[in-house]
Amino acid sequence: MFKNYLHSWYLINHRDLPWRNTKNPYKIWLSEVILQQTRVDQGMDYYNKFTSKYPSILALAKASEDEVLKDWEGLGYYSRARNLLFTAKHIAQNLKGEFPRHYSEIIKLKGIGPYAAAAISSFAFEEEKAVVDGNVYRTLSRVFGISTPIDTTAGKKEFQALADDLIKNQKPSVHNQAMMEFGALQCTPKNPDCQSCPLPTICFAYEHDLIGDLPVKSKK
Ligand code: ADE
Repeated sequence: MFKNYLHSWYLINHRDLPWRNTKNPYKIWLSEVILQQTRVDQGMDYYNKFTSKYPSILALAKASEDEVLKDWEGLGYYSRARNLLFTAKHIAQNLKGEFPRHYSEIIKLKGIGPYAAAAISSFAFEEEKAVVDGNVYRTLSRVFGISTPIDTTAGKKEFQALADDLIKNQKPSVHNQAMMEFGALQCTPKNPDCQSCPLPTICFAYEHDLIGDLPVKSKK
């Protein structure tokens, strides 16, 4: 039910973003590293710059750290750029230039955590790994009425388990993109436009007037 609504919504409403039109794991990895701490509109310029200047892992692996850091200027969080170059060199030197094809291998790469590994393995290789980012926490907590704090071990487990269940029997790349896009465009943090949402009949938070109260974060 939820999945059907989500899928239909995505087909009509999604943005045409360059990293959604590729199955190249290098480009998808690059986009996820950029988008970890950068908004889509700003990240797009850097994505285009990097993919044209460094069209492959091997091209990036040949660059010097000074040059890559210079190209990264303006994005901040420079450890992202250093890890990107380190991992490109590692793949070039030790993995025959081939990006690993499985989540269990991808997650071993420096600078790639569970979220990015799930994104790359599902978008590039259709592996059934659910991504859980802020957009996904927000959407699932509201639709399913889950008040477990999202920044606790119990919360992370519960949301990951639900997301893993939802991705079953779906096309992994499309389902994950749809989950993220729904949270980014429709189920927004502040004042979401529930009047235009396709889910009000099944959304727990909408039905119980809890949109402003979910997701829950534990008080620090
Ligand atoms: N933010 C992080 N990854 C993204 C993606 N693949 N598409 C849009 N926004 C994102």
